[in-house]
Amino acid sequence: MEIANTIQSVRTLTKAARNQGRNIGFVPTMGALHIGHICLIESANQQTDFVVVSIFVNPTQFAPDEDFEKYPRPFENDLKICRENGVDVVFAPTTEELYGDENLTWVNVQKLTEPLCGRFRPGHFQGVITVCAKLFNIVAPDIAFFGQKDAQQAIVIKRMVVDLNMPLEIVICPTVREENGLAVSSRNKYLTAQQKENAALIFKSLQKCRELIDSGLVDTRKIIAQMRKILNQAPSINIEYVSIVDAETLQALDTAAGAVLAAVAVRIGQARLIDNILLDVSKK
Ligand code: PAJ
Repeated sequence: MEIANTIQSVRTLTKAARNQGRNIGFVPTMGALHIGHICLIESANQQTDFVVVSIFVNPTQFAPDEDFEKYPRPFENDLKICRENGVDVVFAPTTEELYGDENLTWVNVQKLTEPLCGRFRPGHFQGVITVCAKLFNIVAPDIAFFGQKDAQQAIVIKRMVVDLNMPLEIVICPTVREENGLAVSSRNKYLTAQQKENAALIFKSLQKCRELIDSGLVDTRKIIAQMRKILNQAPSINIEYVSIVDAETLQALDTAAGAVLAAVAVRIGQARLIDNILLDVSKK
Protein backbone atom coordinates (compact mmCIF):
# COMPACT_ATOMS: atom_id res chain seq x y z
CA MET A 1 0.00 0.00 0.00
CA GLU A 2 1.28 3.44 -0.95
CA ILE A 3 0.74 6.58 1.12
CA ALA A 4 0.53 9.74 -0.95
CA ASN A 5 0.56 13.19 0.63
CA THR A 6 0.75 15.25 -2.52
CA ILE A 7 -1.59 15.71 -5.47
CA GLN A 8 1.21 14.91 -7.87
CA SER A 9 2.12 11.63 -6.17
CA VAL A 10 -1.46 10.30 -6.06
CA ARG A 11 -1.95 11.31 -9.72
CA THR A 12 1.20 9.43 -10.72
CA LEU A 13 -0.03 6.30 -8.92
CA THR A 14 -3.56 6.34 -10.37
CA LYS A 15 -2.24 7.13 -13.84
CA ALA A 16 0.08 4.12 -13.69
CA ALA A 17 -2.81 1.88 -12.60
CA ARG A 18 -5.01 3.22 -15.40
CA ASN A 19 -2.24 2.59 -17.93
CA GLN A 20 -2.23 -1.04 -16.78
CA GLY A 21 -5.91 -1.20 -17.69
CA ARG A 22 -7.16 -1.11 -14.10
CA ASN A 23 -10.26 0.85 -13.20
CA ILE A 24 -10.09 3.09 -10.15
CA GLY A 25 -12.33 2.97 -7.09
CA PHE A 26 -12.33 5.84 -4.62
CA VAL A 27 -13.54 6.08 -1.02
CA PRO A 28 -13.36 9.63 0.38
CA THR A 29 -13.21 9.75 4.20
CA MET A 30 -12.24 11.96 7.10
CA GLY A 31 -10.43 9.05 8.78
CA ALA A 32 -11.26 7.54 12.20
CA LEU A 33 -12.16 4.55 10.07
CA HIS A 34 -14.78 2.10 11.28
CA ILE A 35 -16.81 -0.81 9.95
CA GLY A 36 -18.98 1.60 7.89
CA HIS A 37 -15.92 2.83 6.01
CA ILE A 38 -14.63 -0.76 5.69
CA CYS A 39 -17.86 -1.75 3.93
CA LEU A 40 -17.27 1.03 1.39
CA ILE A 41 -13.71 -0.22 0.87
CA GLU A 42 -15.02 -3.78 0.42
CA SER A 43 -17.49 -2.61 -2.24
CA ALA A 44 -14.69 -0.70 -3.95
CA ASN A 45 -12.54 -3.85 -3.94
CA GLN A 46 -15.39 -5.88 -5.42
CA GLN A 47 -16.26 -3.40 -8.15
CA THR A 48 -12.90 -1.91 -9.12
CA ASP A 49 -9.27 -3.04 -9.55
CA PHE A 50 -7.39 -0.25 -7.79
CA VAL A 51 -8.71 1.32 -4.59
CA VAL A 52 -7.81 4.80 -3.34
CA VAL A 53 -8.95 5.96 0.11
CA SER A 54 -8.57 9.63 1.05
CA ILE A 55 -8.13 10.61 4.68
CA PHE A 56 -8.65 14.33 5.13
CA VAL A 57 -10.52 16.13 7.90
CA ASN A 58 -11.90 18.86 5.67
CA PRO A 59 -11.94 22.17 7.57
CA THR A 60 -14.30 23.90 5.12
CA GLN A 61 -17.25 21.65 6.00
CA PHE A 62 -17.10 22.48 9.72
CA ALA A 63 -18.67 25.66 11.11
CA PRO A 64 -16.51 27.60 13.61
CA ASP A 65 -18.55 26.21 16.54
CA GLU A 66 -18.32 22.58 15.33
CA ASP A 67 -15.91 19.78 16.23
CA PHE A 68 -13.10 20.27 13.66
CA GLU A 69 -10.39 20.56 16.32
CA LYS A 70 -11.46 17.58 18.37
CA TYR A 71 -12.49 15.34 15.45
CA PRO A 72 -10.60 12.03 16.06
CA ARG A 73 -7.43 11.56 13.99
CA PRO A 74 -6.06 8.04 14.70
CA PHE A 75 -3.95 8.11 11.54
CA GLU A 76 -1.69 5.10 12.21
CA ASN A 77 -4.66 2.89 13.02
CA ASP A 78 -6.44 4.13 9.89
CA LEU A 79 -3.43 3.08 7.82
CA LYS A 80 -3.50 -0.34 9.47
CA ILE A 81 -7.20 -0.75 8.62
CA CYS A 82 -6.54 0.29 5.01
CA ARG A 83 -3.60 -2.13 4.75
CA GLU A 84 -5.68 -5.00 6.16
CA ASN A 85 -8.50 -4.30 3.75
CA GLY A 86 -6.59 -4.30 0.50
CA VAL A 87 -6.42 -0.56 -0.17
CA ASP A 88 -3.85 0.32 -2.87
CA VAL A 89 -3.30 4.00 -2.07
CA VAL A 90 -4.10 6.21 0.91
CA PHE A 91 -4.22 9.87 -0.09
CA ALA A 92 -3.67 12.04 2.99
CA PRO A 93 -3.02 15.62 1.92
CA THR A 94 -2.48 18.65 4.13
CA THR A 95 -4.97 21.52 4.01
CA GLU A 96 -2.37 23.64 2.18
CA GLU A 97 -1.94 20.93 -0.45
CA LEU A 98 -5.68 20.83 -1.20
CA TYR A 99 -6.64 24.47 -0.73
CA GLY A 100 -3.43 26.44 -1.37
CA ASP A 101 -3.00 29.88 0.19
CA GLU A 102 -6.41 31.15 -0.76
CA ASN A 103 -9.24 29.16 -2.32
CA LEU A 104 -11.54 31.38 -4.37
CA THR A 105 -13.60 28.72 -6.10
CA TRP A 106 -16.49 26.95 -4.40
CA VAL A 107 -19.00 24.45 -5.74
CA ASN A 108 -22.63 24.58 -4.69
CA VAL A 109 -25.66 22.46 -5.44
CA GLN A 110 -28.87 24.44 -5.14
CA LYS A 111 -32.19 23.29 -3.67
CA LEU A 112 -31.01 19.86 -2.48
CA THR A 113 -28.72 21.47 0.12
CA GLU A 114 -31.44 23.66 1.65
CA PRO A 115 -33.57 21.20 3.72
CA LEU A 116 -32.57 18.69 6.41
CA CYS A 117 -28.92 19.17 7.53
CA GLY A 118 -28.57 22.21 5.26
CA ARG A 119 -30.88 24.18 7.54
CA PHE A 120 -28.80 23.42 10.62
CA ARG A 121 -25.30 23.49 9.13
CA PRO A 122 -25.03 26.55 6.87
CA GLY A 123 -22.01 26.25 4.58
CA HIS A 124 -21.48 22.58 5.40
CA PHE A 125 -22.49 21.23 2.02
CA GLN A 126 -20.48 23.84 0.13
CA GLY A 127 -17.42 22.51 1.95
CA VAL A 128 -18.32 18.87 1.27
CA ILE A 129 -19.15 19.45 -2.39
CA THR A 130 -16.03 21.52 -3.04
CA VAL A 131 -13.68 19.01 -1.41
CA CYS A 132 -15.31 16.12 -3.29
CA ALA A 133 -14.98 18.02 -6.59
CA LYS A 134 -11.28 18.59 -5.82
CA LEU A 135 -10.73 14.96 -4.81
CA PHE A 136 -12.53 13.63 -7.91
CA ASN A 137 -10.36 15.88 -10.10
CA ILE A 138 -7.22 14.67 -8.36
CA VAL A 139 -7.94 10.94 -8.11
CA ALA A 140 -9.99 10.69 -11.33
CA PRO A 141 -11.86 7.58 -10.18
CA ASP A 142 -14.21 5.50 -12.31
CA ILE A 143 -16.44 4.87 -9.29
CA ALA A 144 -16.64 6.71 -5.96
CA PHE A 145 -18.33 5.04 -2.98
CA PHE A 146 -20.51 6.84 -0.43
CA GLY A 147 -22.61 5.68 2.52
CA GLN A 148 -26.40 5.85 2.78
CA LYS A 149 -25.96 7.04 6.38
CA ASP A 150 -25.24 10.51 5.02
CA ALA A 151 -28.17 10.36 2.60
CA GLN A 152 -28.31 14.06 1.76
CA GLN A 153 -24.56 14.16 1.14
CA ALA A 154 -24.80 11.19 -1.23
CA ILE A 155 -27.72 12.72 -3.16
CA VAL A 156 -26.00 16.09 -3.43
CA ILE A 157 -22.71 14.59 -4.65
CA LYS A 158 -24.58 12.45 -7.20
CA ARG A 159 -26.24 15.60 -8.48
CA MET A 160 -22.96 17.53 -8.71
CA VAL A 161 -21.45 14.72 -10.79
CA VAL A 162 -24.42 14.79 -13.18
CA ASP A 163 -24.66 18.59 -13.42
CA LEU A 164 -20.90 19.12 -13.90
CA ASN A 165 -20.63 16.17 -16.34
CA MET A 166 -17.94 14.49 -14.27
CA PRO A 167 -16.88 11.17 -15.79
CA LEU A 168 -17.49 8.93 -12.79
CA GLU A 169 -20.20 6.85 -11.19
CA ILE A 170 -21.38 7.27 -7.60
CA VAL A 171 -22.27 4.07 -5.75
CA ILE A 172 -24.19 4.32 -2.47
CA CYS A 173 -23.65 1.55 0.09
CA PRO A 174 -26.09 0.59 2.89
CA THR A 175 -25.77 1.99 6.41
CA VAL A 176 -23.80 -0.21 8.79
CA ARG A 177 -25.27 -0.36 12.30
CA GLU A 178 -24.21 -1.43 15.75
CA GLU A 179 -26.08 -4.28 17.42
CA ASN A 180 -28.59 -1.89 19.02
CA GLY A 181 -29.35 -0.31 15.64
CA LEU A 182 -27.27 2.84 16.12
CA ALA A 183 -25.62 3.82 12.84
CA VAL A 184 -21.84 3.44 13.17
CA SER A 185 -20.15 6.85 13.14
CA SER A 186 -16.79 8.38 14.04
CA ARG A 187 -18.79 10.71 16.27
CA ASN A 188 -20.14 7.83 18.40
CA LYS A 189 -16.80 8.13 20.19
CA TYR A 190 -18.16 11.27 21.86
CA LEU A 191 -20.95 9.26 23.58
CA THR A 192 -20.93 7.75 27.05
CA ALA A 193 -22.30 4.20 27.44
CA GLN A 194 -25.63 5.61 28.66
CA GLN A 195 -25.85 8.09 25.79
CA LYS A 196 -25.08 5.30 23.33
CA GLU A 197 -27.97 3.32 24.74
CA ASN A 198 -30.26 6.33 24.36
CA ALA A 199 -28.99 6.87 20.82
CA ALA A 200 -30.53 3.52 19.87
CA LEU A 201 -33.86 5.38 19.96
CA ILE A 202 -32.90 7.10 16.70
CA PHE A 203 -33.14 3.86 14.73
CA LYS A 204 -36.15 2.80 16.81
CA SER A 205 -37.95 5.96 15.66
CA LEU A 206 -37.09 5.14 12.04
CA GLN A 207 -38.31 1.58 12.47
CA LYS A 208 -41.54 2.98 13.90
CA CYS A 209 -41.89 5.08 10.77
CA ARG A 210 -41.49 1.97 8.61
CA GLU A 211 -44.00 0.08 10.75
CA LEU A 212 -46.63 2.84 10.53
CA ILE A 213 -46.21 3.19 6.78
CA ASP A 214 -46.40 -0.60 6.41
CA SER A 215 -49.68 -0.50 8.33
CA GLY A 216 -51.05 2.00 5.81
CA LEU A 217 -50.56 5.33 7.60
CA VAL A 218 -49.41 7.98 5.11
CA ASP A 219 -50.11 11.21 7.03
CA THR A 220 -46.54 12.32 7.72
CA ARG A 221 -47.54 14.70 10.54
CA LYS A 222 -48.95 11.76 12.49
CA ILE A 223 -45.95 9.58 11.69
CA ILE A 224 -43.48 12.29 12.73
CA ALA A 225 -45.38 12.87 16.00
CA GLN A 226 -44.97 9.17 16.88
CA MET A 227 -41.30 9.23 15.93
CA ARG A 228 -40.71 12.28 18.13
CA LYS A 229 -42.48 10.54 20.99
CA ILE A 230 -39.93 7.72 20.82
CA LEU A 231 -36.98 10.11 20.71
CA ASN A 232 -38.40 12.08 23.64
CA GLN A 233 -38.19 8.97 25.82
CA ALA A 234 -34.60 10.02 26.51
CA PRO A 235 -34.40 13.57 27.91
CA SER A 236 -30.74 13.73 26.83
CA ILE A 237 -31.83 13.68 23.17
CA ASN A 238 -32.24 17.11 21.59
CA ILE A 239 -34.05 16.75 18.31
CA GLU A 240 -32.79 18.86 15.40
CA TYR A 241 -35.21 17.48 12.86
CA VAL A 242 -37.47 14.52 12.15
CA SER A 243 -38.43 14.72 8.47
CA ILE A 244 -40.20 12.66 5.87
CA VAL A 245 -39.18 13.86 2.42
CA ASP A 246 -39.24 12.84 -1.21
CA ALA A 247 -36.11 10.69 -1.66
CA GLU A 248 -35.13 12.51 -4.88
CA THR A 249 -36.01 16.16 -4.31
CA LEU A 250 -35.69 16.09 -0.49
CA GLN A 251 -38.85 18.22 -0.29
CA ALA A 252 -41.05 17.60 2.76
CA LEU A 253 -44.12 15.45 2.11
CA ASP A 254 -47.56 15.80 3.69
CA THR A 255 -48.46 12.34 2.43
CA ALA A 256 -45.89 9.57 2.19
CA ALA A 257 -45.89 8.30 -1.41
CA GLY A 258 -43.33 6.85 -3.82
CA ALA A 259 -39.67 6.81 -2.83
CA VAL A 260 -39.54 8.35 0.62
CA LEU A 261 -36.64 9.22 2.90
CA ALA A 262 -37.28 9.36 6.63
CA ALA A 263 -34.43 11.27 8.26
CA VAL A 264 -33.51 12.20 11.82
CA ALA A 265 -30.85 14.48 13.28
CA VAL A 266 -30.33 14.82 17.03
CA ARG A 267 -27.81 16.09 19.48
CA ILE A 268 -26.82 13.92 22.42
CA GLY A 269 -24.22 15.44 24.73
CA GLN A 270 -21.25 16.42 22.56
CA ALA A 271 -22.40 14.50 19.50
CA ARG A 272 -24.58 15.41 16.55
CA LEU A 273 -26.00 12.19 15.12
CA ILE A 274 -27.93 11.59 11.90
CA ASP A 275 -29.67 8.56 10.47
CA ASN A 276 -32.27 7.71 7.84
CA ILE A 277 -34.13 4.96 6.05
CA LEU A 278 -35.42 4.72 2.50
CA LEU A 279 -38.97 3.48 1.98
CA ASP A 280 -40.86 2.59 -1.18
CA VAL A 281 -44.42 3.51 -0.30
CA SER A 282 -45.82 2.74 -3.75
CA LYS A 283 -45.24 -0.97 -3.14
CA LYS A 284 -47.63 -1.01 -0.18
P1 PAJ B 1 -16.83 10.44 6.79
O1 PAJ B 1 -17.78 10.88 7.83
O2 PAJ B 1 -15.50 9.92 7.19
O3 PAJ B 1 -17.56 9.35 5.93
C1 PAJ B 1 -16.94 8.80 4.79
C2 PAJ B 1 -17.95 7.92 4.09
O4 PAJ B 1 -18.33 6.84 4.95
C3 PAJ B 1 -19.25 8.68 3.73
O5 PAJ B 1 -19.65 8.33 2.42
C4 PAJ B 1 -20.22 8.17 4.77
O6 PAJ B 1 -21.56 8.20 4.35
C5 PAJ B 1 -19.73 6.74 4.96
N1 PAJ B 1 -20.21 6.19 6.25
C6 PAJ B 1 -20.03 6.71 7.48
N2 PAJ B 1 -20.66 5.95 8.40
C7 PAJ B 1 -21.26 4.93 7.74
C8 PAJ B 1 -22.07 3.81 8.11
N3 PAJ B 1 -22.41 3.58 9.39
N4 PAJ B 1 -22.51 2.99 7.15
C9 PAJ B 1 -22.18 3.19 5.84
N5 PAJ B 1 -21.42 4.23 5.42
C10 PAJ B 1 -20.96 5.08 6.35
O7 PAJ B 1 -18.64 11.88 4.89
C11 PAJ B 1 -17.51 12.31 5.03
O8 PAJ B 1 -16.55 11.65 5.77
C12 PAJ B 1 -17.06 13.62 4.41
O9 PAJ B 1 -18.14 14.49 4.33
C13 PAJ B 1 -16.40 13.44 3.03
C14 PAJ B 1 -17.36 12.85 2.01
C15 PAJ B 1 -15.14 12.55 3.13
C16 PAJ B 1 -15.94 14.84 2.49
O10 PAJ B 1 -15.07 15.44 3.37
